[in-house]
Amino acid sequence: MTYSTIRTEVHDRVGLVQINRPKALNALNAVVMEELAIALEEFDADPDIGAMVLTGDDRAFAAGADIKEMADASSVDMLKADRISRWDRIRKINKPVIAAVSGWCLGGGHELAMGCDMIVASETAKFGQPEINLGVMPGAGGTQRLTRAVGKALAMEMVLNNRNLTADEALRYGLVNRVAPVELSLGNAIQLANEIAARAPLAIRFAKEAVNNVYETFLTDGMADERRSFYFLFSTEDQKEGMKAFMEKRSAEWKGG
Ligand code: CAA
Repeated sequence: MTYSTIRTEVHDRVGLVQINRPKALNALNAVVMEELAIALEEFDADPDIGAMVLTGDDRAFAAGADIKEMADASSVDMLKADRISRWDRIRKINKPVIAAVSGWCLGGGHELAMGCDMIVASETAKFGQPEINLGVMPGAGGTQRLTRAVGKALAMEMVLNNRNLTADEALRYGLVNRVAPVELSLGNAIQLANEIAARAPLAIRFAKEAVNNVYETFLTDGMADERRSFYFLFSTEDQKEGMKAFMEKRSAEWKGG
């Protein structure tokens, strides 16, 4: 399969998937999400692969969902296209997926990393949910997964006031598994994935499922509510203004409407 926005490689028993839109800081447009889902599903079905690593580049894991792709959308457009449902395919991958994060890991990028089973961060990683700056809110699990990972106090600050976390803070608050120097972090993630890939595949599969089940019971309802609210915000003036201001590289003027 030839991809236009991602690259794939195999390292022993690990499938590596790299988001490859460096000029847009790896912003997650519809094509990226489709290709990511296909690549991960293919590795999931490959008996020679035991785990996957998902990464970006040194500057960005991913700076969020693609703002330019959705800036003019209405709530109805968002609901009909229901792009975020594509993300559910990634949630259904059976084999462990480790995110190797350097640089910006924001919005949908942060939600994608949190949707993986573990995160290896480089010292340069910066985690955040800046959607509030655009007049919207997280829409792909951010309010749910972040709160479960770091607790309500910090999640509120990140979601309501765009507080970013450094790699060391993310480690301290339990968001990431380990922090490594930037030149070692991807190798570190691949090594961890290969260690896991060497273990009993069925036990790994059921163990992953069991850990994730702890969160599933209420997560599904929470995410459905979150998604509806995210789409609803596309009927507000502030969403239009926030995304337009981003593209015009100026501060947004909020109307509250
Ligand atoms: N969508 C589309 N394009 C993006 C992007 C995004 N999320 N993030 C960055 N880019 C583009 C920029 O527009 C710019 O393109 P041009 O060169 O064509 O102008 C290019 O990537 C480089 O970005 P900057 O010049 O802005 O780089 P910087 O180093 O000055 O700033 C940054 C880096 C602070 C990460 C800044 O790019 C930024 O704030 N990005 C947006 C982050 C954001 O708001 N993410 C949330 C998106 S909404 C979301 O994710 C919803 C959800 O929950 C599903």
